[in-house]
Amino acid sequence: MKILVTGGLGFIGSHTVVELAKEENEIIIVDNLNNSKEEVLDKLEEITQKKFKFYKYDLTEKERVEEIFSENNIEAVIHFAGFKAVGESIKEPLMYYSNNLISTLNLLQVMKKYNVKRFIFSSSATVYGDQGKEKYSEELSRGKITNPYGMTKAMIEKILEDLYASDNSWDITLLRYFNPVGAHSSGLIGEDPKGIPNNLMPYIMKVASGKLEILSIFGNDYPTPDGTCIRDYIHVVDLAKGHVKALQKAPKGLNIYNLGSGHGTSVLEMVTTFERVNNVKVNYKIANRREGDLPEYCADATKAFRELGWKTEKTIEDICRDAWNYEKNLL
Ligand code: UFG
Repeated sequence: MKILVTGGLGFIGSHTVVELAKEENEIIIVDNLNNSKEEVLDKLEEITQKKFKFYKYDLTEKERVEEIFSENNIEAVIHFAGFKAVGESIKEPLMYYSNNLISTLNLLQVMKKYNVKRFIFSSSATVYGDQGKEKYSEELSRGKITNPYGMTKAMIEKILEDLYASDNSWDITLLRYFNPVGAHSSGLIGEDPKGIPNNLMPYIMKVASGKLEILSIFGNDYPTPDGTCIRDYIHVVDLAKGHVKALQKAPKGLNIYNLGSGHGTSVLEMVTTFERVNNVKVNYKIANRREGDLPEYCADATKAFRELGWKTEKTIEDICRDAWNYEKNLL
């Protein structure tokens, strides 16, 4: 199948390109390099031993999107491109709304024009908001969302639902990710955020490698067994495979799947597992709670298994080992 992968050089996009390339697919990548590097393309070609057509275009420029569709017989789109930092989105809401919404609308309008109606959207578990649950299942409706980044995900989900209601010949899959972490086992691609990381795993890696001094664990007085927050971490390669399964197995129409492991890991467990598996020290201190964090947030991942035959295969140990293997290559 001829697939356009937007944001294909980013963290999740790049790992998905690797998995898609294992099948009989022709992959076209578009990425504006806002939060990724062109050298990832070389790494992808090294891992897969395949070549990919690459457009360094910005999806907010509709003529550019048109150009991609007029030059290629695209059959499906997997849409990863978008701004994704929660904190930044609170400071720069207009930038987030305009970038994430305009790029998606351009893409959908051009798809409609070219009669391409298979779309997989990179959504987030954040759309459930806080419903006081330990596990979130797809039957729950979207909840109260507390930041513009999460709102863009929820708004795009709604746009896609309205689009499907207007024309049910579209095949649309909304994939709600829990906490994507880890890296490809080759150590060639992984997560390398610009500046000081906001998320736990990249922060742990920077402390372990000596680039940052100490990890602040945000609160140890939550109602959890060790007092630190629990999340559902998913290895990015498992996550990438979820996209391939969605493309192959999702029923016709509009479908929603959680992509998570269904198992929770606390912040302290993550730190101690990282230290044990990699035999490195991660200096940490207990700091105040971070505003907006919930004690526990995990996926009910049974629907993806039931309908797509997909479940996570990798462990927290694999996540820690692969993440560190990638970070060491950056040193
Ligand atoms: N944490 C620390 N110290 C840090 C960073 C994080 O203790 O330096 C803790 C947080 O308090 C939280 C856990 O580690 O308890 C995970 O935090 P992350 O920032 O890695 O991830 P979140 O669960 O807050 O957010 C992630 C994504 C969002 C997405 C959300 C959906 O970053 O994009 O999951 O569930 F919206």
